[in-house]
Amino acid sequence: MSLHLVAQLDQLEDATPKVFSVAGRSIGLIKSNGRVHAVRNVCPHKGAPVCRGTFKGTMLPSEPDTFVFGMDDRILQCPWHGWEFDLNTGRTLCGHGNKKLILYPVTVKDGAVYLDLGRD
Ligand code: FES
Repeated sequence: MSLHLVAQLDQLEDATPKVFSVAGRSIGLIKSNGRVHAVRNVCPHKGAPVCRGTFKGTMLPSEPDTFVFGMDDRILQCPWHGWEFDLNTGRTLCGHGNKKLILYPVTVKDGAVYLDLGRD
């Protein structure tokens, strides 16, 4: 385990990715609903700075002519080609199963945000 102090929780705005340099890596933190996601700022498709994208929900599979929105506060959409990624798994929703975001475990303690970079 390799814990790094990255930010204070009050530096983060709800649902707005903020990018930090941590041990030579560009990593985005996204605070939402009391949880903090940590994402390597590189899209697995073509390498875009994915944390410049939009944090949102998405349209769910539904019957024709119906529109059901869901997965709110869980989807990061890449700014280059629009791929959507589930921040619970890192996987893209567009069917490229082997393409995943790199996610890092987050610990929040006494208002400070720590990341475990592991061996990445
Ligand atoms: S570089 Fe992110 S979707 Fe293409």
